[in-house]
Amino acid sequence: MKNKRKVLKNKNILLGVTGGAAAYKAVDLVRRMKDEGASVVVIMTAASKNFITPLSLEIASGNRVYSGVFDDPMSHINLPRNADLMAIAPATANIIGKFANGIADDLLSTCLLSFKGKVVIAPSMNWRMYDNPIFQENLRRLTAHGVMQTGPDRGTLACGEEGIGRMADVSEIIETIKSAFSKKDFFKKRIILTAGPTREYLDPVRFLSNRSSGKMGYAIARACIRRGAEVILVSGPSCLKQPQGLKSFFRVETAQEMRDAMFKRLAETDIVIMAAAPADFSPEKKEKAKIEKSGKLSVNFKNTPDILSEIGQLKNKPILVGFAAETGRRLDRAKKKLIQKNADMIVFNNVTAVGSGFDVDTNEITIIRKNKELSLPLMTKDNAAEAILDAVSDTMKKQAKSGPIQRLRANHRRRR
Ligand code: CTP
Repeated sequence: MKNKRKVLKNKNILLGVTGGAAAYKAVDLVRRMKDEGASVVVIMTAASKNFITPLSLEIASGNRVYSGVFDDPMSHINLPRNADLMAIAPATANIIGKFANGIADDLLSTCLLSFKGKVVIAPSMNWRMYDNPIFQENLRRLTAHGVMQTGPDRGTLACGEEGIGRMADVSEIIETIKSAFSKKDFFKKRIILTAGPTREYLDPVRFLSNRSSGKMGYAIARACIRRGAEVILVSGPSCLKQPQGLKSFFRVETAQEMRDAMFKRLAETDIVIMAAAPADFSPEKKEKAKIEKSGKLSVNFKNTPDILSEIGQLKNKPILVGFAAETGRRLDRAKKKLIQKNADMIVFNNVTAVGSGFDVDTNEITIIRKNKELSLPLMTKDNAAEAILDAVSDTMKKQAKSGPIQRLRANHRRRR
């Protein structure tokens, strides 16, 4: 899918693959980087060829694979010079030790020494080696020099033991690489973000909910983290993996719990983004025991708190972004929500449009602000998240220019 917001578009990545059991995952990593628009050149160490063949990586990358220092005498200078970022995945204790101590005895370690840009490493080894204080010292040395580390994870290791040392998931490595290229326009901004549905219980086993998967909200969380924000994610039930790098994560079930979790943390918050789809109604009474099947069931419902509206009424409200998932191109309803809920922005999407509904990885959104409307084509939720943050960043700049007094007046005018 073509999109100018692809963070890795036209980036040249030099990937080092070293001799670890996770080397086979490098093929997937190369493909995923290419999907994100990057061009990838691979350097393999001699040991890595015990795990994977150069041909696999040549096919995946569409580029020649390099290995020996003397195969092409100037490659240790030319390859790093042409790269925007170097990544090593998997990164063994050996390459980390060499890099940390300035040793350059093969093509990869020589390229690392001559490279001037950001380096991402994805360590992978047995937990005993990972725990070794000498190795840890090497790792600290590299991170102190700005090397970005992703993983390792805990789990079953290649030797069959349990422990820390598994290479980070490919999606997490991609996330770290994207973060290296992202602008940091949300640096130190505190953002409360909601995602997913809520559940409103009738009894201990039955509840009212909706089809929200949380995918859009989680994509926004990842984008906020990449762009330097401190993110508090308040999530309804979702099967998605918690994004790495969150400041905190709260798992809630009901709309009331979502509201309470948010209000406890609102004081220091710059931005609130409500991508969640809280249920609008909750049974008046939650039965303590399972309701027995005995003919007809009628239930009385009460309204849940409208969290967005409540925050919109606060005196010094944060920048407030809501969503309007509508059935049909009902921009009129979304615009009404902008005014009624006193939000700074509403992200409209038509959940009945192809590729824009629930549980898919794409979305077609319109970003609505007071005097601005931006309709975007169908794109991945990751790219839609970038577009939403671009609009929030613009609002943030405008508000900073207008100053606190002008901001209060503007809010007051809006409320009348
Ligand atoms: N929202 C909220 N609290 C609720 C319901 C919704 O804060 N109890 C937020 C959502 O997170 C979203 C925005 O309000 O950002 C709009 O939600 P939506 O369901 O589209 O609108 P509603 O106000 O619930 O109105 P309706 O269901 O009639 O469309």
